[in-house]
Amino acid sequence: MTDGSGSWYDADIDHVIITEEEIREKTAALAKQVASDYATVQDGLLLVCVLKGAVMFVADFARALGRHGPPVELEFMAVSSYGQGTTSSGVVRILKDLDRDIAGRHVVVVEDIVDSGLTLSWLLKYLESRAAASVEVVALFRKPDAIKVHVPVKYVGFDIPSEFVVGYGLDFSERYRELPYVGVLKPEVYARV
Ligand code: XMP
Ligand code: MG
Repeated sequence: MTDGSGSWYDADIDHVIITEEEIREKTAALAKQVASDYATVQDGLLLVCVLKGAVMFVADFARALGRHGPPVELEFMAVSSYGQGTTSSGVVRILKDLDRDIAGRHVVVVEDIVDSGLTLSWLLKYLESRAAASVEVVALFRKPDAIKVHVPVKYVGFDIPSEFVVGYGLDFSERYRELPYVGVLKPEVYARV
């Protein structure tokens, strides 16, 4: 609960991993890098946001790109690998596919977090099979486990400890996405569900 001075969820957070300010600065830096790498593309960039976790990030990242870079278009995909729990199953299901053809386009996949890398390596194969001109990945967060599966993530925001985190799009049981920062839940929160 909140008295109006803080977020409803602040009391559930054990500790903050990345602050709102750090996210803002990093997003600007990533956008600057991507803008300069794609400065010469003719038909702009196709950002493929992986729902739902990357939704906050893609909104801020696309606006930051708009200040420096080539024009962007947004596409959304939803895949499922976690279900309701907190560990990756490795089984990827498409819940929402691309709405249009990406053949010949320069694609940048916008991911919230790379954990085992299983979701992403599956997704990259899928996008390449759709004949994109190029496919790169920007992930705001990466956990150490990511090195177990080889996934080429060109742009990484933060390397974070291998703990389950929530906020800035990341959820636990569909909650906590609206937190402006990223943090770890108190153990008792898991006991509640
Ligand atoms: P893998 O293991 O396939 O998983 O790289 C990537 C996807 O799993 C989700 N994920 C998380 N979601 N807190 C979350 O809310 C986390 O700490 C976390 N770690 C992984 C996320 O959707 C990511 O795209
Ligand atoms: Mg999730």
